Amino acid sequence: MTSSIFYGGDYNPEQWEPAVWREDIWLMREAGVNLVTVGVFSWAHLEPTESNFDFGWLRQVLDLLGEAGIGVDLATPTAAPPPWLTTRYPDALPVDQRGARYSHGSRQHFCVCSPSYRRLASAIVQRLADEVGDHQAIRMWHAHNEYACHVPYCYCDHHAVQFRSWLQRRYGTVDALNNAWGTSFWSQRFSDFGEVTPPRMTPTLPNPGQLLDYHRFSSDAFLEEFQQEKEVLKRARPDVPLTTNFMGFHKALDYFAWAREMDLVSTDNYPDPADPDSTALSAMHYDLVRSLNKSAPWIVMEQTTSRVNWREHNLPKAPGQMRALSYQALARGATGVLFFQWRASRAGAEKFHSALLSHAGTASPIWDEVVTLGKELTAAEPWAGSRVRASTAMIFSWPNWWAIESPSSPAHDLRMLDQLAWMYLPLYHRSATVDFAHPAEPLGSYDALLIPSLYLVTEEEAANIVSRVETGGTAILSYWSGIVDQHDQVYLGPYGGPLRPLIGCDVLDVAPLAAGDTVEVEWADGTRTTAGFWLDLTAERDGEVLARIASGPWAGSPAVVLTRYGTGSAYYLGTRLDGEGMRRIYDAVPALRGAVSPAGPDGESVERVVRSSPRHDFEFLINHADSDRKVTLAGPGYDVLSGQRTDGAMTLGRRGVAIVRHERSARPAAGERDAPAGGSQG
Ligand code: GLA
Repeated sequence: MTSSIFYGGDYNPEQWEPAVWREDIWLMREAGVNLVTVGVFSWAHLEPTESNFDFGWLRQVLDLLGEAGIGVDLATPTAAPPPWLTTRYPDALPVDQRGARYSHGSRQHFCVCSPSYRRLASAIVQRLADEVGDHQAIRMWHAHNEYACHVPYCYCDHHAVQFRSWLQRRYGTVDALNNAWGTSFWSQRFSDFGEVTPPRMTPTLPNPGQLLDYHRFSSDAFLEEFQQEKEVLKRARPDVPLTTNFMGFHKALDYFAWAREMDLVSTDNYPDPADPDSTALSAMHYDLVRSLNKSAPWIVMEQTTSRVNWREHNLPKAPGQMRALSYQALARGATGVLFFQWRASRAGAEKFHSALLSHAGTASPIWDEVVTLGKELTAAEPWAGSRVRASTAMIFSWPNWWAIESPSSPAHDLRMLDQLAWMYLPLYHRSATVDFAHPAEPLGSYDALLIPSLYLVTEEEAANIVSRVETGGTAILSYWSGIVDQHDQVYLGPYGGPLRPLIGCDVLDVAPLAAGDTVEVEWADGTRTTAGFWLDLTAERDGEVLARIASGPWAGSPAVVLTRYGTGSAYYLGTRLDGEGMRRIYDAVPALRGAVSPAGPDGESVERVVRSSPRHDFEFLINHADSDRKVTLAGPGYDVLSGQRTDGAMTLGRRGVAIVRHERSARPAAGERDAPAGGSQG
């Protein structure tokens, strides 16, 4: 297994004549490609009719790649069932909330609970493992593709049956289910599990408990199919690390639960160049993925060299941006960057999606960038095994996301991702490195906890968070936190439930503000900032009021309250403070001070992240701006990209990158060692 960084992309040779394959491989070598994902959508080519298999072409492709020293991430083709399958077994097609069945003609047109789909998916995966599983070119197993991407929920009768069994296992009795879902409201009480349905179309607001459990169930149903594939693949080649490509903040799947099943976590990331926050949001995506399984390496399985073709209007990446954004992932700990796809297709729905090799071939300007990056990454050995360490964690859970966006919320425009971005973006711009953490995981290594709207929190999760504060941590906890338990049932009393020890005032009610409305906030020193979107209506208790609402009908109400708890402290934010308000909070917390790097004329800052090995700190500096930027370094060092020594400062050209190596003065702490590089684990 290579000790350098993985570089490559999806390779779909079945779209081309064999004569093209040889050119592909020759050019892959020129570009420094060392890993390609093969077979993702090849079911119809591997099994042209039911039980008639053709693996000859795949074996030939694997041989060519193997001979060229290019590793293969071998994918199962189960995300796109062939036409014979859905024609013969129409119950394998998914059904929407209104009962309409999807048709063939695109991809992901399968029902994960359909016995026919499950049987046939299992058969093709088994056959793949039997036919080519022992091929020496295989470096990685890639189960399926982007589970739950286009059809996250199916509402068919197979799902109804499976949902009932899942509920029976979870609750045991129908009374327990009734209590959990609060079915005394609107006469929804069940007398038997057989009366329960998926949350199909209803006249008005559905039962929130049913919705929440359907999210949980659907994530588990896909996971079960994944596990079925994993079992077959691991039986064939236990030595080969296995992954499936995630999609960062994808709402339908609880990736914390999924990531435990991965040898290597991987993600697909397509930031929108038209969004001014896309670089920062992309960083947030990578910080999440790095955090999902803290003992597994992670890679970018897909990104694009320039444009996608599936948004309304698809802006390209600017020259240099593909390289800069690849380094963003690497800076945040990735052990590889791959792309969709190697060669731009001639036909099909994604023929105008950019690729490593464009329609114009090597004459395309992107090719030079591809080759340059490939060359640099073959020399990545010195930093490839280093890892990112964060002393701040943002608390995040999928059940909270599912519940907080329920249609019964007092503000349907309260979006979990907006809440995360509100707290994350200012930290990105001050180069403070943030992990994500599940509320129930050990938090002892984090000095600061960011807790944006943890609406659903269990008693155990809250105790875990509170105890970190008690033992010296600092929490920054926002409005609409500690509101409901795991069944989406309200904790009575002033809001906050088991998180109340961290809220030094009484939250008596909530007041979402009209769109665009702001209120003034006055701080203890008389300074005024603004806030918007939401107010918790509070009464003073025992905390220190740092700021109050200073305009509108709720003027005087505490807005920011500091509580000392044990040896730690908690800042409670009862409203969405503006950037200046957040700056005041973050400046007060040592772990959040970061290294502020002033934004350029285009609003972009120089991104700075440190990867550490026992002997070195590698300071990654990425200038996302469209102009040169002078940056101050952590100290003198050596830029491994340019091969130049640097003193304490340097100028980065537009979209320029430096990786400055610094000696670490402190001896490595016990147990601190380099992470496995290049997916060498597993
Ligand atoms: C996803 C899929 C790929 C391709 C790209 C296009 O990531 O996995 O097959 O469709 O999107 O951006």
